[in-house]
Amino acid sequence: MTDRSADRHPQPQASRAKRLYIETHGCQMNVYDSERMRDVLAPLGFVQADAPEGADLVILNTCHIREKATEKVFSTLGRLKQEKDRRRAAGGQMTIAVAGCVAQAQGEEIARRAPGVDLVVGPQAYHQLPELIARSARANGVTLETTFTPEEKFDALPARAASGVSAFVSVQEGCDKFCTFCVVPYTRGAEYSRPAEAVLAETRALAAQGVREIVFIGQNVNAYHGGMSLAGLIRAAAQIPGVERIRYTTSHPNEMSDDLIAAHGEIEALMPFLHLPVQSGSTRVLRAMNRKHDAEAYLAIVEKLRAARRDIALSSDFIVGFPGERESEFEETLALVRAVGFAQAFSFKYSRRPGTPAADMPGQVADDVARERLQRLQALLRAQQLAFNAQQIGKRLPVLVDGPGRHPGQMHGRSPYLQAVHFDGDERQIGAVTTVEITAASLNSLGARMPAKAPA
Ligand code: 5AD
Ligand code: SF4
Repeated sequence: MTDRSADRHPQPQASRAKRLYIETHGCQMNVYDSERMRDVLAPLGFVQADAPEGADLVILNTCHIREKATEKVFSTLGRLKQEKDRRRAAGGQMTIAVAGCVAQAQGEEIARRAPGVDLVVGPQAYHQLPELIARSARANGVTLETTFTPEEKFDALPARAASGVSAFVSVQEGCDKFCTFCVVPYTRGAEYSRPAEAVLAETRALAAQGVREIVFIGQNVNAYHGGMSLAGLIRAAAQIPGVERIRYTTSHPNEMSDDLIAAHGEIEALMPFLHLPVQSGSTRVLRAMNRKHDAEAYLAIVEKLRAARRDIALSSDFIVGFPGERESEFEETLALVRAVGFAQAFSFKYSRRPGTPAADMPGQVADDVARERLQRLQALLRAQQLAFNAQQIGKRLPVLVDGPGRHPGQMHGRSPYLQAVHFDGDERQIGAVTTVEITAASLNSLGARMPAKAPA
């Protein structure tokens, strides 16, 4: 949290801590990267600010996956430039840096189109931030760094500072799958797995600082091969004292090995929830997407997962209106959703990304058609999510308590199936797994109470 009192009682410039505001868009990888950027900048005296106003350094960590997210970067930079001008007029200064996948993909365009920007830094160069900031202070124009060196980055990043009960640990970055709609292979580069020893050392350090849940993240996390498979990594992490829960995201169906599926049945700490994007239920569309599996193969994986862990909850990503998608093919997606029954899901209208193969495919679907399909898909997914949440009513579930809830006396935690749970408790429960009785369900959360003690 920012110390607002500092605004009311300004300190002399020399002794004032430098303030860093990071605005994060996009996926978990960006959330993780923003934390790491904070770690890199802490030794320089930067403390976290919760708004750009008054910050000395603003980093916009951007997402390139869909057009809307990308366009937002330029409007946000326009607003930041105004703030920078205000600060300048008052005799102060503010450095603006653009990070993330838009920086990687459109760095030069940012330098041309966004006048207030001092620094453009791609996701593989965050370890160089102190040096880049110093360089940009001396430079006249925009400083740009977008080289690809993931090995170097991970080795050079400082130790993690944990905050909270659950922490992301990046195990893998980049993607070699080249789905025809997706920019990730171009912005994040080829698949790279961090060595298992480094991942486990980071996990141990986090557990020692009180983290109870580790979420292994990667663009293709189940393609992990850093000296062992992801299943091996999960088995090793489950042995670390203090690690009570393990999750991983995001997975590709073709990398769901039998070993990883079996792990869901064997490792108690591995939570019964899996985000497994399918994108479409039509085998023809999947082929055009270059997903390299068909709808039946996805259903077969789901069956195997449920055989290994009966109660596993599934989540997915869907794209509607992919070029050439016919109404009957969209209905195959609805049929797949009905066949699986998802606990939650993300669904998007196809967004044309210049430079990807699908951008030039014939049969681009009209926006109103895609919008209408998205509405139908989301109505079905919402109904499934609500039904899944409602199924929990009356059950006792272990909840990892991660902080206070919305009201005084209320606590917030997560069920094994990643549902948000609110219940009346107290702050001493934070960081512990507590069994609660589910009493209510809505689309986005569960209500619960502490179970009554059995009479002696
Ligand atoms: N248009 C719409 N959605 C996309 N995604 C990736 N690229 C696009 C695109 N061009 C979605 C996919 C992916 C998720 C992270 O974003 O569903 O799984
Ligand atoms: Fe993009 Fe496909 Fe790689 Fe996922 S697997 S990051 S959708 S190219």
